[in-house]
Amino acid sequence: MRNPFRFFRHNIGIDLGTANTLIYLSGRGIVINEPTAVAVNTKTNKVVAIGHEAKQMLGRTPQHMNVVKPLSGGVISDFEMAQEILRQFLKKLAKDNTFAYYQNAVVGVPADLTEVERKSVEDAVIGAGVSQAYVIESALASALGARLPVGDPVANMIIDIGGGTTEIAIISMGGAVTIKSLKIGGDKFNEDIIKFVRDEFQLIIGEPTAEQIKIELGSAIPINDKLELAISGRDLLTGLPKEVILKDMHVRAAINKSLRQIVDAAKEVIEKAPPELAGDLLRRGVSMCGGGSLLRGIDQLMSKELATTVTVVDDPLTCAARGAGIAVENLEKYDYILNSPMRPRDIKL
Ligand SMILES: Nc1ncnc2c1ncn2[C@@H]1O[C@H](COP(=O)(O)OP(=O)(O)OP(=O)(O)O)[C@@H](O)[C@H]1O
Ligand SMILES: [Mg+2]
Repeated sequence: MRNPFRFFRHNIGIDLGTANTLIYLSGRGIVINEPTAVAVNTKTNKVVAIGHEAKQMLGRTPQHMNVVKPLSGGVISDFEMAQEILRQFLKKLAKDNTFAYYQNAVVGVPADLTEVERKSVEDAVIGAGVSQAYVIESALASALGARLPVGDPVANMIIDIGGGTTEIAIISMGGAVTIKSLKIGGDKFNEDIIKFVRDEFQLIIGEPTAEQIKIELGSAIPINDKLELAISGRDLLTGLPKEVILKDMHVRAAINKSLRQIVDAAKEVIEKAPPELAGDLLRRGVSMCGGGSLLRGIDQLMSKELATTVTVVDDPLTCAARGAGIAVENLEKYDYILNSPMRPRDIKL
């Protein structure tokens, strides 16, 4: 007999990112795409806002309110809040449908998570109301989202620059041949900009301003259009408001070192791959995704440094979530690349 509730049974793909959380609903596509942030009233311990609404409050809250970003460097640093965010998003998805039931979730995680950190992601997903959680390495999810033929015996290289991490992998036959996870991403670029502006202009700026500077002026290589932006902050010496004009070259100087570390890590991943696969990369090129891949000229920089074609995928911010969605829609097909705590191979003998 057909299950009368089967239409309410959902499978979802989750990208619980340091900067953004996305949920892919099987058969529908991306249904949630919001910052991984929550605003809490510290007097009552109550959540007052979540996602976009909470991010808008960042740096502007009164003393009794706090905006929490529960992931740091791709890892859950505040379990309760990470779980609360997922719970609220799932609730929002279900709306008033009390029969909604989340059966399976595939959730992306960085490559170098410890067993405990990975378990904490699974627990957060299950605690938020999903019956079974499978984890997938983010780089694999991104490669699926980029529609790379991950199951084929060819090198598929993906570089995902997120907020807290950069995941770099060469994937062949459903597995990572070489993989590297760096705790450097868009957040580090923002920190670099804050430090540069303080050192060079004796001006203190907050994270939202640094983010605006990065997006409006940031580039990985010198660009033709000379960009400028008037920014305001607090003078380091007088403590009073001050405005300075920032140029694109300032931002390049600020983020150069972090960018270099990403380039070097990508080179290392290629160097460690077997020569046959390195040959594939020449022919097939490299794909980039994640919010950091939107930095002007980063594909050109990578292409020059890695001596192959580098392409930023369409819609790079949703790539990992779409990949997690593809995996959950084809659980049996991708079973061999997913990890679950219930699987025998995870049982330590
Ligand atoms: N146009 C842009 N130029 C440069 N950086 C950008 C741009 N748009 C977004 N970003 C950066 O991309 C980052 C967010 O990317 P993304 O959503 O892929 O990260 P995430 O998946 O949440 O983080 P992670 O994968 O590290 O856990 C932020 O640091 C943001 O500042
Ligand atoms: Mg990400």
